[in-house]
Amino acid sequence: MGRKKKLINDENKTLAKPKKGKFQTVRGMRDILPSEQPYWQKVRRVAEKVAQDYGYQRIDTPIVEFRNLFEKGTGPGTDIVEKEMFVFKTKGGDEVCLRPEGTPSVARAYIQHGMRSLPKPVKLFYIGPMYRYERPQEGRYREMFQFGFEVFGEKDPILDAQLIQIANRIFKGIGIKKFSFQLNSIGCEECRPSYRKLLISYLNNRKNALCMDCKKRLKKNPLRVLDCKEEKCQQVISQAPQMIDHLCSDCKKHFTFLLECLDELEIQFSINPHLVRGLDYYTKTVFEIWPEGEEDGQVALGGGGRYDKLVETLGGASTPAVGFACGMDRIVAEMKKREVKVNFSSQPKIFLVQLGDLAKKKSLKIFEQLESSGISVAESFGRGNLRSQLRQANQMKVDFVLIIGQREALDETIILKDMNSGSQEVITFSKTVFELKKRLKKVAEEKLNNSDKKGSKNIKSVSKSSPSPKNSKNLSKKGNRTAKKKNRSSKASSRPTKRKTSSRKRKK
Ligand code: HAM
Repeated sequence: MGRKKKLINDENKTLAKPKKGKFQTVRGMRDILPSEQPYWQKVRRVAEKVAQDYGYQRIDTPIVEFRNLFEKGTGPGTDIVEKEMFVFKTKGGDEVCLRPEGTPSVARAYIQHGMRSLPKPVKLFYIGPMYRYERPQEGRYREMFQFGFEVFGEKDPILDAQLIQIANRIFKGIGIKKFSFQLNSIGCEECRPSYRKLLISYLNNRKNALCMDCKKRLKKNPLRVLDCKEEKCQQVISQAPQMIDHLCSDCKKHFTFLLECLDELEIQFSINPHLVRGLDYYTKTVFEIWPEGEEDGQVALGGGGRYDKLVETLGGASTPAVGFACGMDRIVAEMKKREVKVNFSSQPKIFLVQLGDLAKKKSLKIFEQLESSGISVAESFGRGNLRSQLRQANQMKVDFVLIIGQREALDETIILKDMNSGSQEVITFSKTVFELKKRLKKVAEEKLNNSDKKGSKNIKSVSKSSPSPKNSKNLSKKGNRTAKKKNRSSKASSRPTKRKTSSRKRKK
């Protein structure tokens, strides 16, 4: 039996049966909650930056397309078209679908907008949701997000190599260091038919040893038998003739040059003769990106290849093309599994507290001034209670709190409270941005220094098994600092302070 993926019941409990009267997300679709956003943001940012660096221009195509675009493009016998499309009729009677992948849509756009006349190659990049009516499993959703790269108008294998280089850079940039490139060539219309015949005859002789699905595949799409994960089929597949042994001279040259480029780039890869990909449009190069530990490509992080005939199939002029797409949901899951660090620092470092109607009005302006000066600030304008606002500021672990009460609003002053030391002082409205920038810079420098010290301490403790007198001094210092820090944080939370009490009194 092939490896079975457990049915998931993820954070959003998408697979739970909807409780009567309670709305939930549709099966196989999920919310991406605020706590997950930093991961997604990192993936998007890295992919967008690399796209820009390599000269790819962003394209957005509609989520709804005509159904027959994929029937023709992706292929009528593929799982995607046969089983997985979300198809519906519009009120006007058009047969449409939610796009299951991006490549046919981008090829359609290339033809529709006459991009053939643009300087070649035409390099396009996209990010967006795709929809496949699959059985939801770990890493397999009905709404999933992809970013993709497509290049039109160049048949040179250097482009195939550059796309693999791009994928390599993106994965490294995201922080996923351990993955593998699986590579194969599935030939072209010249060499594939004779190989297909050879394969059919081999499989026909072993038909009884194949699973039910492969018996069907044998008739419709025999190459797909090669990537069947069923154990009984695996035995047959392991002895099957391989496409790379039957490539025509052009395909062989193409593949060899690609491998040489990857060697030159020092990118490691595995040649996987069973990799055929499940889409009809591929010619020559196909590849996938597998996370470390992946053995059969069930949850590939990405995949792609050359599709030199797709534009023509969709009614355009003969145009060689190559591309790949990656599953962002799977990438995020892998980042979490590998404990990839993401930047949560877009969180505000300042909290603005207001007490009373006049202060509330003044706060709106201060908030705008801070934000437009690039200082990210949090607030809770709906709350008038000091204690609940300070509690929120504490939970957000901000470095500074700005407090505007009735008197401050009249005096055009603000109480600036340092949440790390517990100290507070009064500053004028006009100096708020300046004073905060100065203090935020100091806090950032201190944090950097502390992390440097921590880093050098770690190096020392690694190089010496027992601490030297100097090191043990450092260790006791660290103990003191931690104790001080504890005191500070308990001070910060042991409010109300004098100033606060007086403003409360005034309010009364
Ligand atoms: P694909 O292999 O079908 O290729 O999908 C690309 C990636 O999307 C997969 O490697 C996987 O990471 C992710 N993916 C696919 N289905 C799901 C799902 N149900 N749930 C979560 N993630 C999923 C294509 O889509 C081609 N258009 C790639 C391409 C671009 N070929 C040439 N250019």
